[in-house]
Amino acid sequence: MSRFFVTTPIFYVNAKPHLGHAFTTILADAMTRFHRLMGEESYFLTGTDEHGDKIAKASEEAGQSPKEYADQISGLFRSLGPLLGAKPDHFIRTTDPEHIKTVQKVLQKVYESGDIYFGEYGGHYCFGCERFYTEKELVDGMCPDHKTRPEYIAEKNYFFRMSKYQAWLIEHINQNPDFIRPARYRNEVLSLLESGALEDLCISRPKSRLTWGIELPFDPDFVCYVWFDALINYVSALGYPRGEKFKRFWPANHVVAKDILKPHAIFWPTMLKAAGLAPYQSLNVHGYWLVRDTKMSKSLGNVVEPRQMVDAYGVSAFRYFLLREMAFGSDASFTEEALVGRLNADLANDLGNLFNRVLAMMHKYFEGKIPSPTDETLEDAELKRLGRDAMRNFQSNFAEFRTARALESLWELVRGLNKYIDQSAPWTLFKNRDKSRLGTVMYMVLEHMRKIAVHLWPVMPEASVKMYEQLGLSFDQDKVLLAKEPEVWGLLDSGLVVAQASNLFPRVEVPEPTPPAALEKEAPKAQAAEPKKKAPPKALEAPAGPAEAIEFADFQKLDLRVGTVLSCAKHPDADKLLVVQVALGEPEPRQIVAGLADRFSPEDLVGRQVVVVANLAPRKLRGVQSQGMILVAKDAEVTRLLTSAGCVDDGGKVA
Ligand code: MSP
Repeated sequence: MSRFFVTTPIFYVNAKPHLGHAFTTILADAMTRFHRLMGEESYFLTGTDEHGDKIAKASEEAGQSPKEYADQISGLFRSLGPLLGAKPDHFIRTTDPEHIKTVQKVLQKVYESGDIYFGEYGGHYCFGCERFYTEKELVDGMCPDHKTRPEYIAEKNYFFRMSKYQAWLIEHINQNPDFIRPARYRNEVLSLLESGALEDLCISRPKSRLTWGIELPFDPDFVCYVWFDALINYVSALGYPRGEKFKRFWPANHVVAKDILKPHAIFWPTMLKAAGLAPYQSLNVHGYWLVRDTKMSKSLGNVVEPRQMVDAYGVSAFRYFLLREMAFGSDASFTEEALVGRLNADLANDLGNLFNRVLAMMHKYFEGKIPSPTDETLEDAELKRLGRDAMRNFQSNFAEFRTARALESLWELVRGLNKYIDQSAPWTLFKNRDKSRLGTVMYMVLEHMRKIAVHLWPVMPEASVKMYEQLGLSFDQDKVLLAKEPEVWGLLDSGLVVAQASNLFPRVEVPEPTPPAALEKEAPKAQAAEPKKKAPPKALEAPAGPAEAIEFADFQKLDLRVGTVLSCAKHPDADKLLVVQVALGEPEPRQIVAGLADRFSPEDLVGRQVVVVANLAPRKLRGVQSQGMILVAKDAEVTRLLTSAGCVDDGGKVA
């Protein structure tokens, strides 16, 4: 049986978990679940990085001992898993006694092999980064990351002979195209390695300066450099060297963001080589989540808290958004408006609508019981082909961490199914009593819905299990063979009873826009600690525009759809009103009462495509129920129906 071992970085315990930590955790969890469904034995590791200057300083500021302080924050990271629906198999802390012993073993081994030596070094030390910078690396004398002036420190220390492995590493990266991915980061590392001589790595700190670390086994006056200690977590967690798990699961697939590319792409493989261990399998580097295109930071007050998002939108929707929105390797921008936009478009309109309409039809046409399919038509074969392609693309992209592309592919099937329903018109088959064809159409759709649900388990485990249950099934991860799903057909048994209704993904409201980051950026720092003042309404900040200007978010509240007028009649009690039946790609046509009788006769409207406000609250007009509004364009003289210039399927969005 093949195996899959995935890790997140171990997170520093000097700040609470935020969106960035949540994303890496969700991505690693999704990968674990995906490989499990693909039939691989999988192991998912995460944890916290607790030694070093950064933590020593933070605990001092909090008036606690480093261990007390680390205990608290590590607990917050541990609870991130359950909050996000992520299930790590192990949570490591670098203060765990087993980890400490392993670090000392590795240090001793590398020391004895001659790859650690004692020397003197003077350099520009950034406490934020916990590393020395060369003159060349500084920008105007400042740390490029923290924009602070590093301190010049000259001291005796132990060094790891990293330079010795430079040529080997270049060769290894060249021969293993998936060692660092996506390619842009692989190229970045290669050009760094090829641009000059790699320096040896300072791997100790004198106790006179820092005591919060792992003591070097060969010199009690020094502690280990925090990165050398932290990277070893990936093998100490598996019980290296003798642990059963180490033998089973090493080498790892690491997930990190671009900020820690260098330690993972250069320090870690050379450390492994020096210690006589096999290199890791792959380093998967994702981009940064920005908030409205600005870096997330405490001082800007724009840090996104995962708990708030999960509370507001639910864990499935939050996971879906993150995995759908970030193109692997690139930065992505987080805003609640974008999140709501995606949820409404992809989950409520496409997927949710599919489940809602199909379950409703199943109860209307078959009392909820899944029918047996009969002969298949060309349209059915075409749908199956679309499904196969969508699933294959999903799987090949997901396996390479390209979750956004994978989901995009799967949604071709989701949308394809909605279209297939519109074109097959089950309501007409029902009216014509064509039970045999109706049964085949419904089975086609339901079996594909099952396939969609199973592919979504890595992304939205909670919702996927519910979708399964709504189809009358119970989800058992050990019985699923995802790799076979594109090829097999008919796993959904006829006779199962589907749920009455779905309502898994209700539409959500766009939140009040958050104040632009720029406004907060300019606020004096002292104010940042005070309760946040409400920012002035955005319209006041904007250049003068039309008095009625609305926010884009307000426009997004409108659900404008294209539909075809099926029939139209005069209102029985009002001269100016018409009662119009419009096909909007839903199971049943919509009835809309429109004030158009003075401009149009019923015959003018039948067969025309119109634009409808589909989410207008229903109301009765002179005793007749109306569910929406038909839009027209008019001036003083003429009134014309607003329609689509080309042929758009009923239900198509106006955006
Ligand atoms: N302790 C080190 C890692 C040692 S691994 C042997 C560390 N910790 S950290 O707490 O700073 O975590 C960095 C990681 O958190 C990133 O690589 C990424 O996984 C995640 N993120 C933190 N901020 C992020 C964003 N804004 N966007 C995406 N992920 C980011 O570095």
